[in-house]
Amino acid sequence: MADNYISLTKDDSSQAQQLPILSGTLGPSVIDIRALYAQTGHFTYDPGFTSTASCSSKITFIDGDAGILLYRGYPIEQLAEKCDFPEVCYLLLNGELPNGAQMQEFVTLTSQHVMVHEQLTRFYSGFRRDAHPMAVLVGVVGALSAFYHDVMDITRKEDRYLSAIRLIAKMPSIVAMCHKYSTGMPFIYPKRKLGYVENFMRMMHGDPCDDYQANPVLARALDRILILHADHEQNASTSTVRLAGSSGANPYACVAAGIACLWGAAHGGANEAVLNMLEEIGDVSRIGEYVAKAKDKNDPFRLMGFGHRVYKNYDPRARLMRQTCHEVLDELNLHDDRLFKLAMELERIALEDPYFIEKKLYPNVDFYSGIVLRALGIPTEMFTAIFALARSVGWIAQWDEMIADPELKIGRPRQLYRGVAMRDVKPVFAR
Ligand code: CMC
Repeated sequence: MADNYISLTKDDSSQAQQLPILSGTLGPSVIDIRALYAQTGHFTYDPGFTSTASCSSKITFIDGDAGILLYRGYPIEQLAEKCDFPEVCYLLLNGELPNGAQMQEFVTLTSQHVMVHEQLTRFYSGFRRDAHPMAVLVGVVGALSAFYHDVMDITRKEDRYLSAIRLIAKMPSIVAMCHKYSTGMPFIYPKRKLGYVENFMRMMHGDPCDDYQANPVLARALDRILILHADHEQNASTSTVRLAGSSGANPYACVAAGIACLWGAAHGGANEAVLNMLEEIGDVSRIGEYVAKAKDKNDPFRLMGFGHRVYKNYDPRARLMRQTCHEVLDELNLHDDRLFKLAMELERIALEDPYFIEKKLYPNVDFYSGIVLRALGIPTEMFTAIFALARSVGWIAQWDEMIADPELKIGRPRQLYRGVAMRDVKPVFAR
């Protein structure tokens, strides 16, 4: 329902077009341009979607200027402080935080689905051992669609919920198996009695010959990484999942598309890129050289882990991750570690540099999460896979919301064509 209208007039004084303005609960209102083409014969042009709302959603809200992030209305700071990741999963999927009984039921239901089909474990051996874990993850999560396709009717709410539960329950096993496969270690089966994060840590770091006990400070840090990465409204990978899903495709195939998008260094690959960049810088004495490269317009190098499309203020997740980072470094007595010292010094220099201040380039969540994940003993190439583990709940919650939306249409952007105008094909001897 429109609250207001905006008039669009062409210079040639032809009749003004009235476009409805729609308001949400929070954030900027939007101009509804659905009838624009029919009324004016024009498309809108917005590469990178910097001014385009592709859908309406009730899941996550970001105010990038104020540094606010809400899941279902709850500030991320409170969720990170008072909840664990499974509670946040429940919240994102169901819209409300669970009470004790609802949480118990959710944990029981999830634990029933933690194992992956034994046949799925054989997919891994089709990959080279040195394949990037994200390449393996795209393939294996996509393969889930082969196991759960005919049994699922995406128009049924219950079926969609079950597919979400399956994804959330199986992702820790699938991600840990990517790691085990790359190291040649045996896969570790999940343990139902363990918490979500403890179970994942055991599958990552444990082996069948010994018991594994997760360090509670490290488990809490990983839980926080998962909470902070769980959803982030219509980012590139979520938009990819929605676009893929808009055709009615299998949800696991759509999530695999999201994983592919997340892999890029401008998105989820940034946490891995941060650590690679720190290794490349190598020493505190070379920070100035790299900061100068980042500022040089003729050099494509960017400081990884700095800047954000939406946050033009401190990313609230980065603030929380910074605190977690220090807790982990304290616990492990790692403050003297070469890369950690380098990261802290880089952060200090960049935050004081006029270039970064003017362009509002603050450290983002991935600057710190990379450091924390390294301290947790997670290999650098697994960082983005951990991000995918966390974001799976956001992707599937957004997919579910989209399928249930009565306004759902297949996503089909248009274009400004700048190629050659129509011409005739000449025979080969005449070209
Ligand atoms: N280092 C140096 N300069 C930068 C950086 C950076 N990290 N980020 C942006 N700039 C400059 C950029 O050169 C441009 O300068 P100018 O106005 O002179 O042309 C200006 O800042 C605006 O940059 P932009 O590319 O137009 O901004 P964007 O909103 O399209 O890009 C970004 C956002 C995250 C892709 C970008 O900041 C970047 O590449 N950062 C490094 C990669 C990174 O850390 N990505 C993780 C994002 S957080 C995780 C997630 O949510 O996925």
